[in-house]
Amino acid sequence: MKEKLNKIKSMADEAFASSHTLESLEELRVKFLGKKGELTAVMKGMGALSPDERPVMGQLANEVRDYIGEKLEETKKALQAAAEEKKIREETIDVTIPGKCPKKGAKHPLTQVLDDLKDIFIGMGFSIAEGPEVELDYYNFEALNIPKDHPARDTQDTFYIDENVVLRTQTSPMQIRTMEKQKPPIRVLAPGRVYRSDAVDATHSPVFHQVEGLVVDKGITMADLKGTLETFVHKLYGEETRLRFRPHHFPFTEPSAEVDISCFNCGGKGCNICKGEGWIEILGCGMVHPKVLKNCNIDPDIYSGFAFGIGLERVAQFRYDVKDMRMYYENDMRFLSQF
Ligand code: DAH
Repeated sequence: MKEKLNKIKSMADEAFASSHTLESLEELRVKFLGKKGELTAVMKGMGALSPDERPVMGQLANEVRDYIGEKLEETKKALQAAAEEKKIREETIDVTIPGKCPKKGAKHPLTQVLDDLKDIFIGMGFSIAEGPEVELDYYNFEALNIPKDHPARDTQDTFYIDENVVLRTQTSPMQIRTMEKQKPPIRVLAPGRVYRSDAVDATHSPVFHQVEGLVVDKGITMADLKGTLETFVHKLYGEETRLRFRPHHFPFTEPSAEVDISCFNCGGKGCNICKGEGWIEILGCGMVHPKVLKNCNIDPDIYSGFAFGIGLERVAQFRYDVKDMRMYYENDMRFLSQF
């Protein structure tokens, strides 16, 4: 029996030495110390020993059990420490490695220009209004003094949904919508998408953007229109920019004008941007036609107003020198990431 006990001891020694995981160690505990284990089996044989031998073997068996128990604990601690160390080593963060820079988006160039425009006009007391892109013929044309057979319709190749519904060809219907809802004083800026049945090329797109302005109050004159637009142009293109009002015709304003600015590139001498003219057309404007005021139940004998319409793509084109309008809509990252 003594030999058997010593053998168990040396077997345990060997087994622990080659145990590398906590799971295999647990198996060894069961194998040596468990109820059905090696040591228990030997202990069970104690009864057959002589009364002299029993205490001696009993003591030895206890010693072996304690020894194995201690060894087990020791090995377990060593394995746990090693596991802990490994975990720490694996989870170490190298704070000197450069971080991953998340790709930051940017606003579309048209949105950037629009934001600037909004800022300028909000600074002059305007509020922002938005309206539907699918619009009634009445708002897009008729109430703006462009009846069904009016030749002015021909210049705006229109997408008709049906006889009375169109994709708006301009933001001017917002003049009517605003005046119907709100009584003077009115100062609104209405940006948005507009649609025309134009073939795509470098200067035409079936979808583009306009920004409409409308001011109505008592005693509004052309001087207010000029002052407002001058302030706007100076803020956008610089104080030295000059304005030129050219007489024009729009059915919903009387008198009407187109506004040119002195070329920001050559200062008016003539260059390839202004096509040698020295001037660049940027918007249409005028004094709101009395008929249009009447259509909105505003008495033209008491109130007057001015309106203007700016092409957003044009403003952006001059700021960023974008030669082809298609660039704005193609979602090409090589183009967009420049802004
Ligand atoms: N809606 C006009 C266009 O698309 C632009 C315009 C001209 C708007 C004169 C106005 C204006 O408000 O007064 O051509």
